[in-house]
Amino acid sequence: MTGSRNIVDEITGGRRMRRNRKADWTRRLVQENRLTVDDLIWPVFVVPGTNVVDPVAAMPGVNRMSVDRLVEAAREAADLGIPALATFPNIEMSLRDETGSHCLAADNLINEATRAIKKAVPNIGVITDVALDPFTSHGHDGVLRGDVIVNDETVELVAKAAVLQADAGSDIIAPSEMMDGRVGAIRQALDAAGHQNVGIMAYATKFASAFYGPYRDAIGTGGLLKGDKKTYYIDPANGTEAMRDAALDVEEGADMLMVKPGLPYLDICWRMKETFGLPVFAYQVSGEYSQIKAAAMNGWIDGERVMLETLLAFKRAGCDGILTYFAMDVARHLARKAEI
Ligand code: PBG
Repeated sequence: MTGSRNIVDEITGGRRMRRNRKADWTRRLVQENRLTVDDLIWPVFVVPGTNVVDPVAAMPGVNRMSVDRLVEAAREAADLGIPALATFPNIEMSLRDETGSHCLAADNLINEATRAIKKAVPNIGVITDVALDPFTSHGHDGVLRGDVIVNDETVELVAKAAVLQADAGSDIIAPSEMMDGRVGAIRQALDAAGHQNVGIMAYATKFASAFYGPYRDAIGTGGLLKGDKKTYYIDPANGTEAMRDAALDVEEGADMLMVKPGLPYLDICWRMKETFGLPVFAYQVSGEYSQIKAAAMNGWIDGERVMLETLLAFKRAGCDGILTYFAMDVARHLARKAEI
C-alpha cells in the first residue's frame, strides 16, 4: 500500500466515522443522549389489605402492593431520586359495576394510596390515572350502555373523579381512557375546585395495542374485558390521526403528553416532540417489560443491557422521560455506576 493511495481513503476522502468511536473516552465525549434517574416514572399496582406484596405472574419482578408496603416502596424510590410514581389500583370485584361508580368514592383505593404516599413521602410526585377500567365490571375504560362506550357520560365521571384524586393529593392527572373532550373537561373541573396547580399528562396517543396483556392481569381486568377497545384507542396503523388527537389535547390544556405503548411508537414520540414542544413521555408498557424479562430469564438476551438500551432509545426519540416498570432497577443501576 505504501506509496500508492489507500483505496478506502480514496472512497471516503479521508472522512472516517470510526475515529470518534476509537476509545471509551472518545465515545463518552461524543455521546448525545444520557439516561438519568430524573427521566423515570415508576408505575405501581395497589391492592387492598395490609402487608401484601403479591407478584404479578406475567411480569417477573413486579409486585402488587398494599398501601402500607407501597408507602415503603415510595420512600425507597424517593431515596433513589425517582421523581414520580404512577399508581394503578386493583379494585375488589364486589366494588366494580357497569358505570365504574366507585371511582367517585373519595376514599377508594387509589385515593387512599395517594393520601398515604403524600403524607409519608411528600417529595415524590404522584400521577393518577382517571380511566374507569379498574372500576368497571366489564373492564372497559368508560361507561358501557348496550354495546357502546358512551363518551360524554364518561367524561363527566372522569372529570369528577379527577377532582377527588386532586383532593387526595394527586399532583398530575393522567387520563388514559381516550374519550373526546376529557382533557378540557378535567382542566375546567380542576380549576373550578381550586386545583390550578394540578397538572394534566394526557395519554395523548394511546394505541389499541396487544402489549397491555400483563397489565390487565395485574389489575384483574383481563378476564373481564368484553370485546376490544378499538372504538376509543387509536389504530396502530395511524400516525397522522395520533398527531391530530394530540393536537386537541394540547388545545384543551394538557401540560404534558404521553405516548403509549413506547418502543413500537418511537416515530410518534419524535413527531410529537417536534410538533408541540411540550414535555413528552413514553409509557414502556407491561408487554414490553415482560418480553425483555422473559428473554433475559431464558438467557437469550442480556436483560440489563437491553433494558438500558430501550430506555436510551426513548431519549434519542425526543422523550423527556419514561414510565417504566424497570424504574427501580435502573435507578439502582445508575446509583451503583455513580459510586464507581
Ligand atoms: C387502561 C390502561 C391500560 C394500561 C394502563 N391503563 C391499557 C388497557 O388495559 O387497555 C396499560 C399499562 C401497561 O400495559 O403497562 N386505562
